[in-house]
Amino acid sequence: MNYIEVSSYDELSRKAANIIAAQVIMKPCSVLGLATGSSPLGTYEKLAKLCKAGDVDFSAVTSVNLDEYVGLSPDNEQSYRYFMDKNLFSKINIDRSKTYVPDGCAADIKAEGERYDALIEKLGGIDIQLLGIGHDGHIGFNEPDEFFTKETHLVSLDPSTIEANARFFASKDEVPTKAITMGIMSIMQAKKVLLIANGKNKKDIVEKSFFGPITPKIPASVLQLHPDLTVIYCEN
Ligand code: GLP
Repeated sequence: MNYIEVSSYDELSRKAANIIAAQVIMKPCSVLGLATGSSPLGTYEKLAKLCKAGDVDFSAVTSVNLDEYVGLSPDNEQSYRYFMDKNLFSKINIDRSKTYVPDGCAADIKAEGERYDALIEKLGGIDIQLLGIGHDGHIGFNEPDEFFTKETHLVSLDPSTIEANARFFASKDEVPTKAITMGIMSIMQAKKVLLIANGKNKKDIVEKSFFGPITPKIPASVLQLHPDLTVIYCEN
């Protein structure tokens, strides 16, 4: 594991953006696994700047996102599809038809999960997966459990996750209670994994995840087994 501690969110974002940019420069047709949440916002901003400056060309890139709330359509401002369009896709020269997010409105979420896993396989897997981390150690929406779930699947969100994500909604009651998330298999099969975390309130879970025992009760801990993992953390 490559564990990097930096002193500011700006530095974290710059490093993460540089790693993703290098991936795209070296392999223009990369498959990028992307994440939502507040942590990657700075990274996306830096990537947009690099693209605008002509330093990175996303025209041949494909992206697959980790997760989506069940019941939120792409035009819902709280949906992860909307988030990605707003914070990244509209600001870089990616072909929007090659950007994928699980469909949270699919009538059959199980079938949607199977379709999503088949899509990732057809794309040849993920070249680099960007991840944030939840306060309970969740990655994507893989919540603490007795076991790791391999495939893209339906999850009931932990009360603590609903609480944490309420800041993006008008009230806690509006936070969906279910989501569809990529499973641990696609994440672990990504050729590279880049996890970013910032804030004092993430310090404890970062320590437990990357320096403690590997357990499905802390889903991110499984990443310790990944052969090419980079973690960037800043306390501020
Ligand atoms: C959500 C997302 C995760 C993300 C987590 C942390 O639950 N599904 O992918 O890592 O939030 O969010 P933040 O970066 O805002 O702390």
